[in-house]
Amino acid sequence: MKKARIAVLVSGGGTNLQALLDAEQSGILQSGEIVLVVSNNPNAYALERAASAGVESAVLKGPGFEDALRDLLHERGIDLIILAGFMRILSADFTAEWPERILNVHPALIPSFCGKGFYGLRVHEAALERGVKVTGATVHFVNEIPDGGEIILQKAVEVFPGDTPELLQKRVMEQAEWILLPRAAELVSKGIIK
Ligand code: GAR
Repeated sequence: MKKARIAVLVSGGGTNLQALLDAEQSGILQSGEIVLVVSNNPNAYALERAASAGVESAVLKGPGFEDALRDLLHERGIDLIILAGFMRILSADFTAEWPERILNVHPALIPSFCGKGFYGLRVHEAALERGVKVTGATVHFVNEIPDGGEIILQKAVEVFPGDTPELLQKRVMEQAEWILLPRAAELVSKGIIK
């Protein structure tokens, strides 16, 4: 069976990358295969996860980042790009080249706590500061507006009294991100190979 060729862009721990790799193993992700991992951070633990899974990885950074990325994605025949904890905003030129072909996972219910400056733990700090009782995660297509593309999947997660940003981040990952991202990857990959 033909599969969509997926590149995953990462910057850090890579637990969402791991969820995708595990989903491929378990068959939750069956219409796509992860063939490339790209990090803008040479120290990202995500790179070790890629190596353990036998997936090619590359570190790209600096001002030439997007040009190098563009070349690599074309060389590897990539169909779908997944941003999994990727902490850099892609240019409008870049996103315009990949309409409905870039996915991102965001650790809140968009349109809350999203856009420029809302990434990683900062998102959960903002949710706790605001005192929301429910937060969650969103998987969406990426366009030129940070966190502004079409929403694909969302899942709500409860906030508990006494939560710290770290506790809330962990719950949102476990209950939402690691479930939604593989599901969305399968959904979009299936559409691509049709
Ligand atoms: C995840 O919570 C992801 O949703 C978030 O960073 C974390 C990365 O963790 N991404 C953003 O905030 C992007 N705006 P991971 O490296 O373990 O997947």
